[in-house]
Amino acid sequence: MAKPFFLSTPIYYVNDAPHIGHAYTTTAGDVLTRWHRQRGEEVWFLTGTDEHGTKVQRAAQEHGVSPKKWVDDLVANAWLPVLETLDAANDDFIRTTEERHVHGVQVFWQRLKDSGAVYQDTYVGPYCVGCEEFKLPGDLIEGSGEFEGQMVCAIHGKPCEMLEESNWFFRLSAYSDALLKHYRDNPNAVRPTSAYNEVVSFIEQGLTDISMSRSAVDWGIPLPWQSEQVVYVWFDALLNYVTAAGFGAEPGSPEAERFNRIWPASVHLVGKDILRFHAVYWPAMLLAAGLKLPDLVFAHGWLLVGGEKMSKSKLTGIAPSAIIDYCGSDAFRYYFMSAIRFGSDGSFSWEDLTARYTAELANGLGNLASRLTAMVERYFDGKLPQAGELTVPDLAIRDALVQLPKTVDEKMCELDFAGAIAQVRSLIELTNGYVTEQEPWVLAKDPNKSERLATVLYVVAEVLRVVAVLYHPVMPKSTRKLWESIGAEGVFGPLADQRVDASASWGLLPAGTSVVKTEALFPRLAEEE
Ligand code: MSP
Repeated sequence: MAKPFFLSTPIYYVNDAPHIGHAYTTTAGDVLTRWHRQRGEEVWFLTGTDEHGTKVQRAAQEHGVSPKKWVDDLVANAWLPVLETLDAANDDFIRTTEERHVHGVQVFWQRLKDSGAVYQDTYVGPYCVGCEEFKLPGDLIEGSGEFEGQMVCAIHGKPCEMLEESNWFFRLSAYSDALLKHYRDNPNAVRPTSAYNEVVSFIEQGLTDISMSRSAVDWGIPLPWQSEQVVYVWFDALLNYVTAAGFGAEPGSPEAERFNRIWPASVHLVGKDILRFHAVYWPAMLLAAGLKLPDLVFAHGWLLVGGEKMSKSKLTGIAPSAIIDYCGSDAFRYYFMSAIRFGSDGSFSWEDLTARYTAELANGLGNLASRLTAMVERYFDGKLPQAGELTVPDLAIRDALVQLPKTVDEKMCELDFAGAIAQVRSLIELTNGYVTEQEPWVLAKDPNKSERLATVLYVVAEVLRVVAVLYHPVMPKSTRKLWESIGAEGVFGPLADQRVDASASWGLLPAGTSVVKTEALFPRLAEEE
């Protein structure tokens, strides 16, 4: 049996509510996993929350509540609801405070302790609480403004805290050669190429051992062999990918069996700021535990505000609901997946969102759908007519249509969401142009041209059938409406069950299918206040 397609997002810190930077990773994961489901693969889409560590503990303290109450409230009121808002169809949601995770983390580190992969020492050096990271000398940059003359974290722009604490170290340095070999043998294991190069050159400089526990923090998972210390938050959080899958469960239990079947992960989606954790520390941990390495770590870019990473700490975070209330979840998903090349940074602007919504969704796909459904209702009593012989312009559309699913599939599997969407969009544009040229409303006036009219409308209906299948992972709600309105639901069943490859044949919609005009797929946007 083929291994399931197992995709993870990072687990999000619950020091605050989500902003669109977080929603961006989840959206990409949801689009890709829906795509793989429509390729007929078994999929397991994992997301969750990272609840331990100093950053979360301090947020709770500032609000005068216990860390547990803080995370419980924020997960229930903000992090779980945002998945609904985004229309994400995740299969699991792991919280690092759950027993299955705590237990798996302890099993994992005990195994590494037993094999001699950890030892006790003293850490002296800078720590950025924003990143929850022990910083290396090359990681800091010259500060500016109020921090002029000081060295600061390159991501948070603030000086680090200086730590001196006795804790346990993981022998990271022992894995440099094995990691380099792995990446030389698997040049596609980290993407895009810029991320791969960054990882390889970091390892080539030589790895130093790193603290895997904290003695000065108490909001975390106790070390199984020394309960006064907790597992360093990253070395707790990274393990979610295996604990959620079933690592640490009783041998022979369904969870343990599931782990054997679905590990290693197919894709870890991460932002570029957390690449080193995922492509250096995490595989080293896995090697130390004798577990397989993930197939791919893909590092996407940042959503920028004023040229800087959007963040809550800099008060530049926009809540996903602020955008989704304006244009809906489908347009949100479409916009972020099509306007920014996955792997590069990008800026969000209301003007750009509005312009693309109007041109590509309302006047593009929405208009094509309403033209077709209105004309089939008006000229053929809502029954899809039988096409006559195809002429040159019809054949051009048909040829583009049968090629499209394969091209889009290649781009989606490369995580080139913008490229995949652009391909579908160009068929929509071609077809809107075709309708304008063929002037079915003029053909309708001449009874001798009714076969030609039938052919033109049939061609458009076939395009909409394929567009609904290919756009479904990106825009689940509006494509479902489209699927119903062209009568495809009654013929082929639910849209989510439609296979990408099977959609490529011509002429699948039978003549006589009921077509109904429904409300606009992409209504006009309200004026911004
Ligand atoms: N808790 C860690 C991840 C642990 S995974 C084992 C963490 N959490 S986070 O909440 O700070 O960030 C989670 C993800 O959101 C990261 O992939 C990060 O890159 C992404 N984003 C946060 N702000 C972002 C932008 N402004 N733009 C795009 N993605 C950003 O790191």
